[in-house]
Amino acid sequence: APGSATATLRADQPGPRMHRDVFGQFAEHLGHGIYDGIWVGPRSRIPNDAGYRRDVLDALKAINVPMVRWPGGCFADEYHWRDGIGPASKRPVKVNTNWGGINEDNSFGTHEFMGFVERLGAKAYVSANVGSAPPSETAQWVEYITAPANTSVLAKERGKNGHAGPWKLQYLGIGNELWGCGGNMRAEYAADLTNRYAQFAKSANGPMLKIASGPSDENYEWTRDLMRIAGKNIDGLALHYYTRPRDKDWNDKGPAIGFSEREWATTMAHTLRMEEFITKHSKIMDETDPAKKVMLAVDEWGTWYDPTPGTNPGFLMQQNSLRDAVVAGLNLNIFAHHADRVRMAAIAQMVNVLQAMLLTDGPRMVKTPTYHVFDLYKPWQDATTLPIEVTSPWYHLDEVAVPAVSASAVKDAAGRVHVALVNLDPNRAVPLSVAIQGVQASTASGRIITAATMDAHNSFDQPNAVAPAPFNGAQVANGALTVTLPAKSVVVLDLQ
Ligand code: AHR
Repeated sequence: APGSATATLRADQPGPRMHRDVFGQFAEHLGHGIYDGIWVGPRSRIPNDAGYRRDVLDALKAINVPMVRWPGGCFADEYHWRDGIGPASKRPVKVNTNWGGINEDNSFGTHEFMGFVERLGAKAYVSANVGSAPPSETAQWVEYITAPANTSVLAKERGKNGHAGPWKLQYLGIGNELWGCGGNMRAEYAADLTNRYAQFAKSANGPMLKIASGPSDENYEWTRDLMRIAGKNIDGLALHYYTRPRDKDWNDKGPAIGFSEREWATTMAHTLRMEEFITKHSKIMDETDPAKKVMLAVDEWGTWYDPTPGTNPGFLMQQNSLRDAVVAGLNLNIFAHHADRVRMAAIAQMVNVLQAMLLTDGPRMVKTPTYHVFDLYKPWQDATTLPIEVTSPWYHLDEVAVPAVSASAVKDAAGRVHVALVNLDPNRAVPLSVAIQGVQASTASGRIITAATMDAHNSFDQPNAVAPAPFNGAQVANGALTVTLPAKSVVVLDLQ
């Protein structure tokens, strides 16, 4: 019927694993991302575990954060790791020239970061300074982190600073946005530097995947050059893509809340371009890497709006609404469709910055709609992807037209099938019928995230305005799953 969607789920044709690191998060020294957001210091009145906010740790643990990328971003290519070790009182105070021009006291450094990921049970992804430091600095940082106890001068120094044994460093970023804030380089020069820095960075404690600074958006030439010149020496190429409602001028991106339906529509159309970017970059990578040894690591993605009025514009603070939840669901579905190549990603950013999971204000904290989507998608972590093809009605507004329904499906280790369905149409519910092949199921139940308004959000006074609710509107009968997806919603179902 017009206005309805159909789909086919092929549980009998399992695809690649969706690597749990796709649910990684980015934490930069930017605004209140680290300080106040994660780290308040051990003497704070805000309840903390050795300086880490307890509320933030608990919330992040509950969504199984698999990996954290740190310390930048643009900050990475100005960061000197030695500034962040040793007694906190002796660490140099510097100016964070990228973000707000404020003082950086370096009280959160390597030990604090490693303690953070350890508490989360997450992997560490450290971005090294390629733009303004020599390769020896990267090599020594990796040695400081990974050398066995007492084996070298740096290992001994680490011991003196309170950590005798080595840490694991699962990912090393070779610079960040080398085409921009990382040094305004040409691709060929960046590729040469990538080879050089990668050569001397050696983990002494297990595998360490090297991620090259990759393209932004549709910079396909960058991908071609990096793969041609450095493809053999790297494990991943980073892709950065931010969703802006207005994408012509970085000084006018559109507000985070109180936006028009037109801005809802353009946000959806722009975010769906992720599919095109991944497909095209991946195809170029196939030319030199048909076995897909090099991953496409989407290690900066998410929405970027005008900053919250009255806040330091360099802090990139923005509210997070139901629109962000829908954006998160769409992107996670896209990553699931490309699980063979996209084996790691990091949403920008974890706390208080851009499309954050959590917002804090002094001792208070709220979980954003985006947080709740990551919670709903937990079964996707390390599950086997299943093909699901959707034929969807279109959502139109003026010249913007996008398919209303997006889906992904996985089978977990216990053999249970999970289906994620997003209806981005803000006005109309969409009836959907899914032919399910290769799975014996008689019920489908799960949770939904939706709200009455497009910009519904969680404030410190109303922290649960947007939260998952049980969803019982799906039926399974005669090999078909039928459900009516409410307007502007993310629904995750377990088939049993
Ligand atoms: O996430 C904010 C900034 O966006 C990062 O520092 C930079 O890498 C990107 O341009």
